[in-house]
Amino acid sequence: MAVPVNEPDSSRFYVTTPIYYVNGTPHIGHAYTTILADVLTRYHRLFGKATWFLTGTDEHGLKVQEAAEAAGMEPKAYCDGMVGRFMELWEQLGIRYDRFIRTTDPDHVAYVQEVLQDLFDRGEIYSAPYQGWYCVPDERFWTEKDIEDGNCPDCGRTVIELEEENYFFRMGKYREWLIEHINANPGFIHPDSRRNEVLGFLKKDLGDLCISRPKSRLAWGITLPFDSDYVTYVWFDALINYVTATLELEAPSPEEGWWPADLHLIGKDIITTHCVYWPTMLKAAGLPLPARIAAHGWWLVDEEKMSKSRGNVVRPLDLATRYGVDPFRYFLMRDMTVGLDRSFSEVDMIQRYNSDLANDLGNAVNRVTKMIGRYSDGVIAAPGAAGGEEEREIEALARRTVESTRSLVETLAINQVIEEILGLVRAVNRYLEVRAPWNLAKDESGAELLATTLYTSAEALRIAGVLLGPVMPTRTGDLLRQLGASPESEGGYDALTSWGGLEPGDPVPGGEGLFPRLELPEDLQV
Ligand code: ME8
Ligand code: MG
Repeated sequence: MAVPVNEPDSSRFYVTTPIYYVNGTPHIGHAYTTILADVLTRYHRLFGKATWFLTGTDEHGLKVQEAAEAAGMEPKAYCDGMVGRFMELWEQLGIRYDRFIRTTDPDHVAYVQEVLQDLFDRGEIYSAPYQGWYCVPDERFWTEKDIEDGNCPDCGRTVIELEEENYFFRMGKYREWLIEHINANPGFIHPDSRRNEVLGFLKKDLGDLCISRPKSRLAWGITLPFDSDYVTYVWFDALINYVTATLELEAPSPEEGWWPADLHLIGKDIITTHCVYWPTMLKAAGLPLPARIAAHGWWLVDEEKMSKSRGNVVRPLDLATRYGVDPFRYFLMRDMTVGLDRSFSEVDMIQRYNSDLANDLGNAVNRVTKMIGRYSDGVIAAPGAAGGEEEREIEALARRTVESTRSLVETLAINQVIEEILGLVRAVNRYLEVRAPWNLAKDESGAELLATTLYTSAEALRIAGVLLGPVMPTRTGDLLRQLGASPESEGGYDALTSWGGLEPGDPVPGGEGLFPRLELPEDLQV
């Protein structure tokens, strides 16, 4: 059970996404969580931390067994076929995870069994008769008082009655301890509304957790090491993936490892499992808790949650293909506030693209590189002494944006990070109108202020490009190249974002428009 531990406030950032059920094709809800994890990882790497980003698939349980049966396949072969859909999509969306874990991976199976045996040996797991109700799509047990008109209180679908001998984890005895932990660590569950929801849930009596399934009913799972007639409850198996993945990692030192995670990113559908089951499991196993669990809201379609069972899904690849991977990532990050719900609309996406990316960012870069070509022989000119308040304001705004990016990323407010960076870009566009380089270029007396203006605007756009890098890695690489800056992110956050990065005399190659304006497709016009 010895797991090397990641010291708090370390220079490391370990983030996880939920491991997704394999019995479906990923939609923009899954893409959203995974892109958010990717963006956060890239920011933390830019801030100079060592990062570790884990995603993967949840492959055991009744749902997958039934889907495999319906497809006429063995469960493992079925999973092998489905997993590729996730891996390919992440590749296409520019996701750079460090490990893709599958709950069928041998190291995971072995570690789950090790945890189970240890808990069993120490009396944290016992056997008892079980009677209750089961929601197959959610893989959750409910008691008589939980269910509503024969339906799952969570998703509203029909539950089935079960009666059998099972194994239980002594979760109930950790209730007081968990309440104290949540109260003593206000940042543990994010946002506050979700923390209150968990505390509300814990006001009721907390029962023990049924962690086994008889193989007669469900064969597809991890066999209990102390009773081979049973497999492990899929959630008990799945949650442990977050620790399994850290075991193979080269620890910075023998005592110092990657567990606990700095951040578990989840959707609000899986709060109870992550904020109640998981902390109590870790406590019983003698392992430290994750620093933070953040639950985001839903992408909705016509006011309903987008989900494979409702059949109202939007396919991420369709959008990324039509509008570009980076604009798609930009939209998901810009238009969702972590914690709230948001209706998806393709029209909103096109409008957001046109206003922020085509009109503001793309236009600014295009204007500045063209003017440097026209008025400065295509090279960065040294800023002159001329200039004043206007220039100081742009430089000060760039500095403030660099600082707020760092602090807002800590609070997961990526939409605000983007808004601040776009604020800098808009300020550059306004500044160009005020200085009017096209007038300054008319005679020699404007030459010095012209050089200052072109330098100031190009440099502010370079910094905006660095700051937007984690959201749009490819397009900002092009942006930086067009300005003659290096798209490599080595050198550290402070060095990359400090004013004066563009060197006088360097060529500014410019290039194709970065974000050509989009027309509203005919089928979306009203
Ligand atoms: O729950 N909007 O897997 P899952 C936003 N295997 N995010 C959404 C979404 C939507 N409409 N729909 C899904 C499981 N998501 C378990 C997890 S972890 C140890 C085991 C995202 O395939 C969101 O992150 O049902 C949600 O929590 C997750 O997909 C659920 O994926
Ligand atoms: Mg689900």
